[in-house]
Amino acid sequence: MKQNVKKKHSLKIGILGNGFMGRMRAHAYLTVAHIMDDLPFVPELVAVSGLDEKSLEAFTGDFNIGFYTKNWADIVDDESIDIINICLPENLHAEPAIRALEQGKHVFCEKALALDAASALEMTRAAEQSGKINMCGMNYRFLPAVQLARDLIHNGDLGNIYTMHACYFQESGHDPYRPVEEVLYAYGENALGSARGLGSHVIDTCRFLLGEMSVLNACFKTFVPERKTKSGDLYRVEVDDFASMTVEFETGAIGMLSTSKVAAGRKNWFRFEINGSKGSLEFNLQDLNTLRVFLPDRSPSQLSGFTDISVTEKAHPLMSPWWPPAHNLGWEHSHINEIHHFLYSIANNQDVGPSGATFHDGYRAVELVEQAESSSGFIKHPAL
Ligand SMILES: NC(=O)c1ccc[n+]([C@@H]2O[C@H](COP(=O)([O-])OP(=O)(O)OC[C@H]3O[C@@H](n4cnc5c(N)ncnc54)[C@H](O)[C@@H]3O)[C@@H](O)[C@H]2O)c1
Repeated sequence: MKQNVKKKHSLKIGILGNGFMGRMRAHAYLTVAHIMDDLPFVPELVAVSGLDEKSLEAFTGDFNIGFYTKNWADIVDDESIDIINICLPENLHAEPAIRALEQGKHVFCEKALALDAASALEMTRAAEQSGKINMCGMNYRFLPAVQLARDLIHNGDLGNIYTMHACYFQESGHDPYRPVEEVLYAYGENALGSARGLGSHVIDTCRFLLGEMSVLNACFKTFVPERKTKSGDLYRVEVDDFASMTVEFETGAIGMLSTSKVAAGRKNWFRFEINGSKGSLEFNLQDLNTLRVFLPDRSPSQLSGFTDISVTEKAHPLMSPWWPPAHNLGWEHSHINEIHHFLYSIANNQDVGPSGATFHDGYRAVELVEQAESSSGFIKHPAL
């Protein structure tokens, strides 16, 4: 009989927010610990915050967490905690992020980094001054097919890139009679609209693949400007439910980006297509293990057309710790890969960029949305 001797020390993590993404991140830290074996420490979840006592109690039980609190400052101010992972609404990201960085903690913060560019810039400055590892949750960078697309572009397989079309469509605002409290992007102090919520992913993925960009022109629109609350009161929506922008990359390529929360039938439709002088590629989040590639020089003319690549081989980016070839990954794996990259960067005291999104990348996404919104002439209270 051999005894299991625990050799590694632990790095202590506090999660702020125990909703959808709090649960996803907790799951990611625990999964990293038993799937990836290149870390010199074990990530240990020690604390979680939230507003609802019952769900906090369940959360601490589910993830074997030491304590919960309704006051996130209890976690940020706890000297024994090394990492703060922020999973709160966007309007509440800046204060705990800056306070944690000032206390010498590493910080992972969900996208969008903040509701406005001024707060995102403040967070970025605090991160850069602290010298601590900072990361913004742009998880689509950590899908194998997206990283393969980047490798093909950077290796020159597509030649000079001419255009990128990217859209992110969902349907949560499609029904105009749905109570506005349930139409999360449209309601309350943290109303994001489609551009801030979905556009942060679209912009970040475009910058990840093709580099820095600037906005040429934009169109923001609210198709359902009035909704009813659960109690029947009228509610004026102040944010876009559709946005589009034309951008120019520093390379000269042109991007056409659009986001919609009123796209009936579209569940989580994040699709992009890139066309270059030597070929094209296409990706869709709803089929995330596949990259469609067209390289005319490498295919006989009778079979000319896009080829579906199953990005599940051990040789593919990010696949080595996972299952045998052709055993697909899902949405959650982008988060697990991302949290692994964050922890690996801490272990090696290195910036999370360029493969991961720093706070600066998070800031750029918010700033570009703001620039697009102001260039569109969007009016928050349209005349009805
Ligand atoms: N990358 C992704 O795929 C992805 C997906 C969904 C959400 N997100 C982002 O994650 C973040 C959290 O979103 P979510 O869907 O988990 O939200 P959620 O509503 O499910 O959870 C929010 C958490 O914040 C807490 N909270 C809310 N208001 C608070 C307050 N005033 N004080 C203290 N705590 C408060 C709630 O109790 C809850 O624990 C957002 O920034 C969102 O945009 C990212």
